[in-house]
Amino acid sequence: MTKTTSKPADRVIELRRRLDDANYRYHVLDEPDIPDVEYDRMLRELEAIEAEHPELADPNSPTARVGNAPSGKFASVRHAVPMLSLANAFSDGEIQEFVARISKETGDQEPAFSVEPKLDGLAISLRYEHGVFVRGATRGDGATGEDVSANLRTVRTVPLKLRGKAPPVLEVRGEIYMPKAAFERYNDWAREHGEKTLANPRNGAAGSLRQLDARITAQRPLAFYAYALGETDGAKLPSTHSQTLAWLRELGFPVSPEVDVARGAGGLLEYFNRIGERRNALPYDIDGVVYKLDRYDQQRAMGFVSRAPRWALAHKYPAQEEATTVESIEVNVGRTGAVTPWVLMTPVHVGGVTVTRATLHNADQIARLDVRVGDTVIVRRAGDVIPEVVRVIEERRPLDKRGKPLHPPYQLPTQCPVCGSAVEREEGEVVARCTGGLYCAAQRVQALFHFASRRAMDIDGLGERFITALVEFDYVHSVADLYRLTLDDFVAMKRRADEREGSTPETVKAGKVATKWAENLIAAIDASRNTTLERVLYALGIRDVGESTAKTLARHFGALDPLMTADEATLTTVPDVGPIVAARIAHFFAEPHNREVIAALRANGVHWPEGAPQRSSEGPLSGQTVVLTGGLEAMSRDEAGAKLEALGAKVSGSVSKKTSFVVAGEAAGSKLVKAQELGVEIWDEARLLAFLAENGQ
Ligand code: IVH
Repeated sequence: MTKTTSKPADRVIELRRRLDDANYRYHVLDEPDIPDVEYDRMLRELEAIEAEHPELADPNSPTARVGNAPSGKFASVRHAVPMLSLANAFSDGEIQEFVARISKETGDQEPAFSVEPKLDGLAISLRYEHGVFVRGATRGDGATGEDVSANLRTVRTVPLKLRGKAPPVLEVRGEIYMPKAAFERYNDWAREHGEKTLANPRNGAAGSLRQLDARITAQRPLAFYAYALGETDGAKLPSTHSQTLAWLRELGFPVSPEVDVARGAGGLLEYFNRIGERRNALPYDIDGVVYKLDRYDQQRAMGFVSRAPRWALAHKYPAQEEATTVESIEVNVGRTGAVTPWVLMTPVHVGGVTVTRATLHNADQIARLDVRVGDTVIVRRAGDVIPEVVRVIEERRPLDKRGKPLHPPYQLPTQCPVCGSAVEREEGEVVARCTGGLYCAAQRVQALFHFASRRAMDIDGLGERFITALVEFDYVHSVADLYRLTLDDFVAMKRRADEREGSTPETVKAGKVATKWAENLIAAIDASRNTTLERVLYALGIRDVGESTAKTLARHFGALDPLMTADEATLTTVPDVGPIVAARIAHFFAEPHNREVIAALRANGVHWPEGAPQRSSEGPLSGQTVVLTGGLEAMSRDEAGAKLEALGAKVSGSVSKKTSFVVAGEAAGSKLVKAQELGVEIWDEARLLAFLAENGQ
């Protein structure tokens, strides 16, 4: 927001124009364009100027009414008892003053308050005559609202008939809101069906309730909580507000389970903190808590000022949404190569902290939001959740001289900003990934960890702690560098890691350096040089190439070079390799950085026997594909697999329609279920053992 230093009269005109505009968008169009906090700030600034300059007063100023008059789409309803608003407080000091004022004027040293969540929805008034719902209206400007009875009837938590003995006239006030989960569900559905998504649950509730077609409202998951009375006739009311809420519950109105009674300023602040801690876990959005003096006689003694009672106060939490501008759009590369876009923003205070970065999640989200550099955006930070951009205020997009947007729609980079390898996004996937898996610094720790693991290159003793230190202190850039490490490198690396963690052993401080562990590591790395093609293929960490696929590929190609040059079509002819995996393999080997790492591995002495392509051996199971799942008693799965292969079977890791049979051992899980679903034949261990014995295995 830009503050001008111009004359107060000009500023007042400007603020009124902007507030009126915001009101119109919010109340009439249901398309708010500024966050509430900004609206509140402008309103407060206007109030302050008007208070200082009475000559600028205007009966039509936005400060003189809370909302806009009804839009004319619905019938008007005059509220017999006006719907008031609440004074706001943001600090502990204001709460103490509020309670002190009440204590002084009522003579009650520790007055009791009904304490309630301040629901972030839409205030409504429901009218019942002789226990039957007759009309429901929005708040409108507090004096006159809109008749939205037809829509309210569709809200399941609004009772249409009251339980027990209801008075001849009863108006109940409360909040229509959209539960958070319902909001998320609705937006998921809307995205899937190409419908407009809702900006937040509050706008969702407001927009849904003001639909002219009640059938649309009926599809929106709205809910209601009661928190006050309007006009009543013939009712014998309790003497406190908390008793009224209990009575309303008996009549069938939902009341928030968080309502409570608290005493004195200490009790109020304790409630504020207690609810604040649970704010994000509550199933609905709240923007604060409300304190209401509980005894009606005390309420009457306190009375009202202008539109708000002096016996009640809204204590607000820091706003979770704020507007700011996008300075640049960056991307982050994760340990698995996932490329995540985020925005760098002009610092803004939101949810109690200053934020400068917010996530955009993925390319889909960018396309949906159409975020561009220079845009004014709404950022949201709820609790510990990573701040996110929820929407763009398109009206504020910077334009060039011809009125065209200054910046084009944002495109994800096609090359990894960390390593320069190609960034690719597979069809049907929301996440784009860097393809330089072996080379990319962002993926190094992950790549090394997998490379060294037991079923890959099996480098004993090279665990996550050492790998992280090797990468962070820049000893290794790719898995090939492991084979160039010296004893001195390891000792120096460990000394730095110990120093950083403050865990330098006393012996080292005394000048003695134990190197046995480092010698062992060097030996383990050396031993891993002598390996097999299937282990190397698995160790490379190509997405979706697990041990079983690595084995199939090794057999099928016999050597690495023909595999590296195979195109996708050739790869799909390999049993068990579908088009997706074929594409992943081809892309991996097409990336020059990955080829360099493989060349470096060979140059550093990593070797494996190579031979002609092997076709599976002939035998009683030739042409059959078998899947092993669950634990076997008589032998390991690997052993059983080897025996089946010796009989001509191809052992696969996943069940499909092409699977000939599944051997299900102890505690078999999803593969067994899938086999059952597909009607694939299932063998137990006994049948397997009998078959192997019969065939000489
Ligand atoms: S009582 C005389 N109780 O806050 C008091 N209001 O600024 C009338 N609100 O328009 C309101 N939760 O939309 C009350 N537990 C609660 C509330 C609540 C949310 C909203 C309501 C009202 C606004 C007042």
